[in-house]
Amino acid sequence: MRVPLVVGNWKMHGTVAEARILAHAVRDGLKRPRGVEVAMCPPFTALAAVGEAIAGSPIALGAQNCHWEDKGAYTGEVSPAMLTELGCRLVLLGHSERRHVFRETDEEINRKVAAALRHGLRPILCVGETAEQRRQGLTFTVVEGQLRAGWAGLASAEIDRCSIAYEPVWAIGTGVNATAAQAAEVHGYLRGLVSELGSKDTAHSLRILYGGSVKADNAGSFTEEPDVDGVLVGGASLDAAGFVTIAKKCAAKGGAS
Ligand code: PGA
Repeated sequence: MRVPLVVGNWKMHGTVAEARILAHAVRDGLKRPRGVEVAMCPPFTALAAVGEAIAGSPIALGAQNCHWEDKGAYTGEVSPAMLTELGCRLVLLGHSERRHVFRETDEEINRKVAAALRHGLRPILCVGETAEQRRQGLTFTVVEGQLRAGWAGLASAEIDRCSIAYEPVWAIGTGVNATAAQAAEVHGYLRGLVSELGSKDTAHSLRILYGGSVKADNAGSFTEEPDVDGVLVGGASLDAAGFVTIAKKCAAKGGAS
């Protein structure tokens, strides 16, 4: 049984003071989440404060990106070891904003995935097609290419520690979410690939999240799909009450809330 995972991606939102307030409110709203795992990914500058706010709670701390080197002359970058020192357990990699706004390549993302694993961070590899690619019938081709490239060279035991987030680019921050059926179709395809790249057991246990305009009123429809194992939430994770509701709706799938 895959326990659903609900991850908040705060993007570039939140001063330390604002992050503290939001983190406390989420922690208080999810004292004993059952049947769901919850994580929050604030900006780098707020990681320490959020880590403190959720210390001792079941909520996990995550980062939105990392570099592939342990240290060095990489102005402006943050290494995986710097994240684990602050208590991060997971890291988003290959988010579509990193790919499209900052021109991150599959090769760079692959190096980041390997580095995160080396440091004991669980990477959530984000994949997803643009509207144009979907129109051209390239959805499966695109997500397959991103998954194969992002995981290139990983051993099966390493793939075991990964998660995937399917985030169609056209659904991110637009208010136009994929339908649950559209998500389920891609998730099923990705799970088949996990079986090939890792193992059948890994495909059975690995979590594939949906992301893109997830809100309190649509979150439940995604996690009702057997192949959707949680959600990656952007804008709606900045509202504590809404994020808590999303986590509780997803928990229902895990059998208890
Ligand atoms: P959104 O973003 O929920 O605001 O659409 C999702 C994401 O980018 O991870």
